[in-house]
Amino acid sequence: MFARLLDFHALEWRYEPRSFPLQWHPDGTVHEAFTPDFYLPEFDLYVEVTTMRQDLITRKNRKVRLLRSVYPHVKIQVFYQKDMRDLELHADSGSPGEPPIDHVLFSAEDVERRVGELADRISEDYAGKEVKLLGVLRGSVYFLTELSRRLRIPARVDFLAISRFAPDDPAPQREHIVQPPHDPIEGEHVLLVAGIVDLGLSARFLLHELAARRPESIHICTLLDRSSRRLVPVDIRYSAFELPAPFVVGCGLDYRQLSRNLPYIAVVKPLG
Ligand code: IMP
Ligand code: MG
Repeated sequence: MFARLLDFHALEWRYEPRSFPLQWHPDGTVHEAFTPDFYLPEFDLYVEVTTMRQDLITRKNRKVRLLRSVYPHVKIQVFYQKDMRDLELHADSGSPGEPPIDHVLFSAEDVERRVGELADRISEDYAGKEVKLLGVLRGSVYFLTELSRRLRIPARVDFLAISRFAPDDPAPQREHIVQPPHDPIEGEHVLLVAGIVDLGLSARFLLHELAARRPESIHICTLLDRSSRRLVPVDIRYSAFELPAPFVVGCGLDYRQLSRNLPYIAVVKPLG
């Protein structure tokens, strides 16, 4: 399953290419070793994928901690199976209606205030310039609308859409731009406006794709940044909120295409 996600994002990977000795017997033989599941050569990064079972997760977390202390230069990330389930949550299929809300994380007033602060910062940073707000459909629409209204610099608006990872797709596809921007971005100061940057794979893909269209500059501006779950490094210039792990809806973010239109950001009740 994780391999399919990596394939979707066209990331090179190897399965269990290396074992790391963690503890040794007094005679020098290896007592305990750890073999991370995946290695991503491009990022020199190991990824350990956990199961859903908490006891196994606890054991793996211990091994990962040990590996980090014995090999401080080795980069390793844990990918929780639970997170994969979250990815499935925003698939289009089988709509069960609006998700039950656990609690409001950021109120409409919080959002309004933060977006205003971000607009101020952007207006200063781009003073004397024109900016192109390029929204990633559909999660960014509400955020982009509010942000653009609060800017004090000339702004153009355009949108694009990318394909989405579908874990159950029988014919897996590669990530691609399904709806390109209407206008060229060559020579422009582009702000790539996103609802959320999570694993960072989509953001990285888009930055790479759009750089080829020769904008004068391009930076990411996201409403939500869940940096704790980042898999690959992404440079995020503007972010309104740092987001904790639980799945959220509202202000453009959906659960099976519903709840985007909530004026606040809310945590969805854990499923099952
Ligand atoms: P990523 O950064 O490549 O993982 O892409 C982020 C995508 O995951 C977004 O475009 C959302 O569609 C989806 N996503 C991740 N977390 C959430 C969430 O908490 N609520 C709604 N959608 C989410
Ligand atoms: Mg979504």
